[in-house]
Amino acid sequence: MLSPLPRLAAVALVGVDVANAAYSIATVADIKKTSADIAFDMMQYYKGNLTGQTPGILPGPPPAGDYYWWEAGAMWGALIDYWRFTGDASYNDVITQALLWQVGPGQDYMPLNVTASLGNDDQGFWGMTAMTAAENNFPNPPADQPQWLGLAQAVFNTQANPDRHDKTCNGGLRWQIPPLNNGYNYKNSIANGCFFNLGARLARYTGNKTYADWAETTWDWMRGVGLMDDNYSIHDGAHVETNCTDINNAQFSYNSGVFVLGAAHMYNYTDGSPVWKDRLDKLLNATLVRFFPDNIAFEPACEDQMSCTTDMLSFKGYVHRWLSITTQIAPYTAPVILPVLKTSAEAAVQTCTGEQNGRMCGFSWKKKKYDGSHGVGQQMNVLGAVSSLLIEQPGKAPVTNSTGGTSKGNPNAGSQSDSFTHDKPVTTADKAGAGIVTFLLAASTLGTFVWMGIGK
Ligand SMILES: *[C@@H]1O[C@H](CO)[C@@H](O)[C@H](O)[C@H]1NC(C)=O
Ligand SMILES: *[C@@H]1O[C@H](CO)[C@@H](O)[C@H](O)[C@H]1NC(C)=O
Ligand SMILES: *[C@@H]1O[C@H](CO)[C@@H](O)[C@H](O)[C@H]1NC(C)=O
Ligand SMILES: *[C@@H]1O[C@H](CO)[C@@H](O)[C@H](O)[C@H]1NC(C)=O
Ligand SMILES: *[C@@H]1O[C@H](CO)[C@@H](O)[C@H](O)[C@H]1NC(C)=O
Ligand SMILES: *[C@@H]1O[C@H](CO)[C@@H](O)[C@H](O)[C@H]1NC(C)=O
Ligand SMILES: *[C@@H]1O[C@H](CO)[C@@H](O)[C@H](O)[C@H]1NC(C)=O
Ligand SMILES: *[C@@H]1O[C@H](CO)[C@@H](O)[C@H](O)[C@H]1NC(C)=O
Repeated sequence: MLSPLPRLAAVALVGVDVANAAYSIATVADIKKTSADIAFDMMQYYKGNLTGQTPGILPGPPPAGDYYWWEAGAMWGALIDYWRFTGDASYNDVITQALLWQVGPGQDYMPLNVTASLGNDDQGFWGMTAMTAAENNFPNPPADQPQWLGLAQAVFNTQANPDRHDKTCNGGLRWQIPPLNNGYNYKNSIANGCFFNLGARLARYTGNKTYADWAETTWDWMRGVGLMDDNYSIHDGAHVETNCTDINNAQFSYNSGVFVLGAAHMYNYTDGSPVWKDRLDKLLNATLVRFFPDNIAFEPACEDQMSCTTDMLSFKGYVHRWLSITTQIAPYTAPVILPVLKTSAEAAVQTCTGEQNGRMCGFSWKKKKYDGSHGVGQQMNVLGAVSSLLIEQPGKAPVTNSTGGTSKGNPNAGSQSDSFTHDKPVTTADKAGAGIVTFLLAASTLGTFVWMGIGK
């Protein structure tokens, strides 16, 4: 971690306010320079390539450090997009080392170290990052190593396994994968959203209908169980004990974003079918209305109270990137989406005047000034918002296997996977780790939906 707030001392020392003017995003060159600085500052938090550290992960999981395993997987995706948008390959070797180190024994992003808090969403974020690598022809690993497309397929295949789709709540994925984990009794939108997103993208990339069928099934399940309601609001999750009738109404931007990008891919895969256009239109509208008030990204469940967890502090950046890519996959959405993302990014960079270097980014963009909060999520958010402004530059559309994609696939990847049917007891230390909605879980374990107060 960067040490907090030595800035006052610095001011006293030089006798002037060290606060930078906010970054410029006025030109393509400005956007590249700004993105480079923000990425550099983000990477100061990463220690995994230093001697004695574990490649691929951020300091954590709590209490060892702030970050759960999934967030590093998400960060490598942000950096692949950074490379694809700006052309700066500075981090490519670090990214590759990280993505290959964490594949786990089944080469499916279920490394043993994280078993005790391994959710379908955690695995899904690493899988989506591998998919991003394939879709952008990120340099392929050596031939004797797992390949990006194969890794994405492995994650998908393990999640499509019948073991993970029991009959409670009429189907759907649970949050946690191992049955003994806290949270195995919760079926949530982000776990199913990652699976949907990956299925839709694999369908477009490979042309294989099996993936599209699963995406359809997952969408129908979300609608049927009510996690995506008639207004296209997406609710966090529900418990199997109630057949998923105790819906937790907390709404997070990444849930909507992950489904928007998937729906755009289904729209594209179906050659612009009216059904998927209608779904995409309505979901996109609901997303912009709820999460971009005044056209600035906002996390309604926690931002005003500054009660966002470390996880939640990273959602805005994914949503920016996913919406920007949506404009390539469903080009008719560009006039609706791009002006919003631009206004939002302009607010975002105005928060980047914090901490000792005078340019760390804050979280609450609508304040248009640094709000005292900094970390990987805050940097990754603004990095995503700024770098993805380059989406309109030529050649930024994701490729497919038939339009130049070079990553090698394996339709049967993930079949060596651990099904966890022989579950071993988890250790207390392991249990300290948890997944994305840990605080929701703690609350429901206590039998009181404390989280309901959080959005008020
Ligand atoms: C670790 O990665 C950073 C990029 O974030 C790079 O500058 C540095 O050289 C790497 N260190 C080692 C030991 O590989
Ligand atoms: C698992 O943890 C050990 C001990 O910290 C570490 O050496 C190893 O690299 C980790 N494995 C992965 C895949 O992160
Ligand atoms: C559980 O809910 C689903 C709808 O999500 C419904 O089809 C099913 O009948 C319900 N099962 C029970 C046992 O109530
Ligand atoms: C949808 O929105 C309308 C108007 O705001 C509201 O009356 C209705 O209750 C909402 N439906 C659901 C399922 O939330
Ligand atoms: C599908 O995506 C491609 C970009 O990869 C785009 O050119 C095409 O117009 C999209 N199809 C539809 C129906 O929008
Ligand atoms: C978008 O949603 C808002 C609020 O739910 C609604 O008033 C508006 O008509 C919708 N616009 C479109 C284009 O669907
Ligand atoms: C991908 O494209 C290559 C070369 O065009 C072809 O050999 C391969 O069969 C394709 N794979 C799939 C899954 O369609
Ligand atoms: C399509 O994907 C499914 C699911 O992974 C796989 O079983 C099947 O072999 C694939 N078909 C082709 C033609 O690759």
